[in-house]
Amino acid sequence: MTFDRSIKIAPSILSADFANFGQEIRAIEDQGCDWVHVDVMDGHFVPNLTFGPPAVAAFRPHVKTVMDVHLMIAPVDQYIDAYAAAGADYISAHLEATTHPHRTLQAIRSAGVKSGLALNPGTGLGDIEYLLDMIDMFVVMTVNPGFGGQKFIHSQIDKVKKLRSLIGDRPIHIEIDGGITTETAPLMAAAGADVLVAGSAVFTGGSVDKPEVYGKNIRAIRDAASAAQ
Ligand code: DX5
Ligand code: ZN
Repeated sequence: MTFDRSIKIAPSILSADFANFGQEIRAIEDQGCDWVHVDVMDGHFVPNLTFGPPAVAAFRPHVKTVMDVHLMIAPVDQYIDAYAAAGADYISAHLEATTHPHRTLQAIRSAGVKSGLALNPGTGLGDIEYLLDMIDMFVVMTVNPGFGGQKFIHSQIDKVKKLRSLIGDRPIHIEIDGGITTETAPLMAAAGADVLVAGSAVFTGGSVDKPEVYGKNIRAIRDAASAAQ
């Protein structure tokens, strides 16, 4: 079975209406998103605070596609089981947030969840060679983590090209997170990425009463990226 590297759009609910997560998640799924991206922030690893395991567990019944949980927390190991129990399909931990990335990735897989390794914009690829067989997805941050609506960091295009060749035929997704728009999505698709997180570019202008705007935004990003793959 060939590995699915087709373009997948993962709206980040960090840009959704916080008073309405259930409806917002159903709206983006009805409008054609592929995954649902959940940004977990601890006010320590990043200067913002979001969702504990109980909140993520409350999102789960509304997610019919893939719940992609991005942990921007340090330390991280002691929370992996709780987010797995909350229903995550993917758990991504930051390389910069753990002293023992091999152990962290092992813990994610042992919890029965797909493992992701996230890299901040300033982090190189020097320390991942011996982790490749532990990873189901790389998350390349194209903004400094902590907020939505930030500007895309173009220096990461070269990192994605290098990562794509390092991965070779391994069944590993490359997810891009931060500043994805119809302009930047094709740059990353051409470089080898297949999962595109988009918060402000999907939710801006729409609402649960105007979900068709979400659909238009999701299709525009996917079409722009697919054309460049
Ligand atoms: C930032 C988060 C991103 C963010 C993306 O730390 O990890 O997922 O919500 O939002 P946009 O697409 O608006 O940059
Ligand atoms: Zn994220």
